[in-house]
Amino acid sequence: MLKQLNPLPRIKAIGRNPRIDPKGSRRHPDHRYTDQEHAIHARDVHFDWSNVPLHYIPGEPMATHVIDFMHLVLPEGERAMSNTLAEALSLIEDKRLHEEVVGFVGQEATHASSHRGARERLAELGLDVEPMAQKLEWAVDNILTDRGLTGRARHEWLCERLGLFAALEHFTAVIGEWLLESETLEAAGMDPMMLDLVRWHGAEEVEHRNVAFDAYMYVDGSYARRVRTAFIATAALLGIFFASESYLFRNDPSEDKGRFWPLQLASTINRGLAPSLWFWVREIPRYLDPRFHPSQLGDIDKAVRYLAQSPAVNGENVPAAEKAEA
Ligand SMILES: [Fe+2]
Ligand SMILES: [Fe+2]
Repeated sequence: MLKQLNPLPRIKAIGRNPRIDPKGSRRHPDHRYTDQEHAIHARDVHFDWSNVPLHYIPGEPMATHVIDFMHLVLPEGERAMSNTLAEALSLIEDKRLHEEVVGFVGQEATHASSHRGARERLAELGLDVEPMAQKLEWAVDNILTDRGLTGRARHEWLCERLGLFAALEHFTAVIGEWLLESETLEAAGMDPMMLDLVRWHGAEEVEHRNVAFDAYMYVDGSYARRVRTAFIATAALLGIFFASESYLFRNDPSEDKGRFWPLQLASTINRGLAPSLWFWVREIPRYLDPRFHPSQLGDIDKAVRYLAQSPAVNGENVPAAEKAEA
C-alpha cells in the first residue's frame, strides 16, 4: 500500500495525491495496478559502433554535439540516479513499486553502459570527452552519494536526491517523447545506429516515467521539496548542457566544424534538430502542478511499439567481436 497522508502542515500535503489520468496510466486512480501493466525490465541491447562517423548527423556538428551531450553526461547521471533509487529500496514496502524500482535501476544501468560505448567511439575518432566526464564522475562520487550521513540527516538527503531525480526524470521522459515523435533527425540523415540508441533510450524513459516520481512521492512527497528540487535540477541541467556543448565544440578535431557554436546551436534549434529553450521552460509549471502525475505525459503505446521493433533490442546489431565470443 502506498503511504497514507499524514496530518502535517498543508504545504507538506499539497500534491501528495496527484490526480492520475487513467488514459495512458498503468495504474488505477486509486494507485492499484491494473491487469494490463507490463513489468519494467532491463533489455539486452547491442550496438555496433564500428561504422559510426564523428558527425553522425551529416554536416551538422552542433546537432551532433547536442546528442553527444547524452553520451557525455548520462553515464554518470544515470549511475547517480540508480544508486539513489537503490538506496531508497529498503524504505519501499509496496511490492509493485519495489519491483518497478528494481527494473528502473536495471534500465538506467543499461542506458549508462550503452552511452559509454558511444563515448568510446567518439574517443576513437579524436573527440576525447574523458577529462569532462571525470569531473562529472567526481561530482557523482562526492556530492550525490549518501556522503557518510546517518539518521535523520541521511534520510533528508536521500529525499532531496529523490526529488532531484524525479524532476530530472520528467525532463528525460519529455525528451524521450520528442525523440520518438520528431522526424527531423531521421530526415537529416542521422546514422541509424545512433538514431536507434536515442530512440530506444527515449522509449524506455517514457516507459519508466512514473517510477522516480512514485518513489519520491512514496518516500517523502513534500510539495515544497518538489518545487525546490525542480528549480535546482533545471538550473543544473541547463548549466551542464551549455558547459558540455562548449567543451564538445572546442574539442571537436574536425576542420569543418564551423564557427561560434552558440549561433550554430540557435540554427540547430530553429531547424527543429533540437528542442527549444521554451520546450524546457514550459515543463516546469506542468511538473509543479500539484495534480500532476507522469502518467499524464504522452503516448506510452508509441514507446512500447518502438521497443518491440528496435534493432538494438532485437539483436540485429551484435558486433562481430561479441558474435565471436558467443
Ligand atoms: Fe535513462
Ligand atoms: Fe530514466
